[in-house]
Amino acid sequence: MQENEGFVPRQDVSSSQSTGSTAIADSEFLDDVLAGLGGSSKYLSCKYFYDERGSELFDQICELDEYYPTRTELAITRENAKSIAAALGDDCALIEYGSGSSLKTRVLLDELSGLAAYLPMDVSEDYLLKTAAGLQDEYPDLEICPIVADFTKPFELPEKVEHCSPCVYFPGSTIGNFERAQAVTLLQNMAELCGTGGKALVGFDLQKAKQTLELAYDDTQGVTAEFNLNLLRRINRELDGDFDLEKFQHHSFYNESEGRVEIFIKSLSDQTVTVAGEEFEFAADELIFTEYSHKYTVASFSTMAAEAGMQPTQVWTDPRNYFALMLLICK
Ligand code: TRP
Repeated sequence: MQENEGFVPRQDVSSSQSTGSTAIADSEFLDDVLAGLGGSSKYLSCKYFYDERGSELFDQICELDEYYPTRTELAITRENAKSIAAALGDDCALIEYGSGSSLKTRVLLDELSGLAAYLPMDVSEDYLLKTAAGLQDEYPDLEICPIVADFTKPFELPEKVEHCSPCVYFPGSTIGNFERAQAVTLLQNMAELCGTGGKALVGFDLQKAKQTLELAYDDTQGVTAEFNLNLLRRINRELDGDFDLEKFQHHSFYNESEGRVEIFIKSLSDQTVTVAGEEFEFAADELIFTEYSHKYTVASFSTMAAEAGMQPTQVWTDPRNYFALMLLICK
């Protein structure tokens, strides 16, 4: 946790292995929201962004002119698909963390003729199963096993892929949404899941001009604002909340010294909000922290991976050096 802002980390990354996979339970959502709104520095976990509407809005963000990461990562993947496929090798089980609409994956799946299985993993069950069914139609010969799970929690690979060589695919710069220490733990968990010689293909966003970064997280059409505020709608709907969406606003900026975009929801007035029968006071201009999006350099990311026992072996970038896709081998 960073000292300067005093925010509580919004994601807990478990570091021990156990069996079974769990999706997010309602009670966990409720507990997290009550804990997040109850303290003096309010926060809401970004893992709750992706209900069905949130996933749709995120797909819209990815289409925005201002939001370059998805498009850039897709171009990197397309341009280098053959070389990535060669680096992954044959008999690979590709495990995608937080698969969403699996757009980038299709580009890889088209190139990865030796792929043994594809395991998309997401907490948004409906969305995951719908996407997996669609993919199965498009790739009838590929073994597709959707896993409804939270990748920050321990889980095990299904037995039927035990003979394959595992590679965690973690695109979308989602790793940047974790604090550094948590990102290291997450990489350690990947290493443990895949075992020695296992691989991870991780996409992360690179440091660049402040203005470019700030526009990417606050677009002119307001889709990003809608996405951030959808968290309040979800609380209203699922946890019997009464947030007035007119009285809250999306708020984000690039913190250059920390190398991250910081995303908040701002209260526009003094107000009281009720969630599941509990009351919470908000002052005018008070911020609810929702997400960090860390921006790395190839060197700083490599250092972090090495701390987690992962050896960077290859990196692919775009001509502007906006984004990087790195292949790591578990030591
Ligand atoms: N993983 C995405 C990112 O850091 C998530 C994201 C994009 C996001 N835009 C956002 C999260 C706006 C909250 C608000 O780029």
